[in-house]
Amino acid sequence: MKIFIDSGDLAEIKEAQSMGLIDGVTTNPSLLAKAGKSTRDAITEIAEVVDGPISAEVIGVKADEILREGRELAAIHKNVVVKVPLIEEGLKAVRVFTNEGIRTNVTLCFSPSQALLAAKAGASYISPFVGRVDDISGDGIELVGQIVQIYRTYGFETQVLAASIRHPLHFVQAAMLGAHVSTLPLKVIKQLLKHPLTESGLEQFLADAKKIPTGSARS
Ligand code: E4P
Repeated sequence: MKIFIDSGDLAEIKEAQSMGLIDGVTTNPSLLAKAGKSTRDAITEIAEVVDGPISAEVIGVKADEILREGRELAAIHKNVVVKVPLIEEGLKAVRVFTNEGIRTNVTLCFSPSQALLAAKAGASYISPFVGRVDDISGDGIELVGQIVQIYRTYGFETQVLAASIRHPLHFVQAAMLGAHVSTLPLKVIKQLLKHPLTESGLEQFLADAKKIPTGSARS
């Protein structure tokens, strides 16, 4: 499974990139507002750090606005994937982008029926928002499984990008279900690494290493 970082913060993206684990980046208007830069500047800077798909979201809600903005975003860098909301006007635009060879990430997906329509429109990625489904007492991971099963059944090439991942269990479950990608905040990427037995084991090994005689055997 590919791992994207869900962030508009360049320092966070650089830190994740330095771990050598990052395959791409997702942003959204809320994340870019926090970063305090124009979308163009933020995406240009991110593209200098990560050589992989970078989702940049349109804010128009009419097909013609989405198309105009999306073409501008796609022109910023070859790795830009245009993020389009899962609404009727959005899907109209996705069909046109697909025909033009512009990759899309259809976002704000909360049901399997929405995901099926996005795939039929030719979306490159579908983003089910796992954590936000859980927030309203639904089962976000079940949604990921339903989408994976539908796409497999009909042979859609749209990749399932598990989004709104809030903790390591979401990540592991999305991987077990066959999601192609998970996009994670830096905090969750770091949580994936942690295990108390790794920490205590390493502490013990380092303490014991000090007791190893330094003699001919090590020279
Ligand atoms: C996905 O592309 C979104 O940027 C993101 O994963 C939303 O996550 P949130 O629900 O934690 O805001």
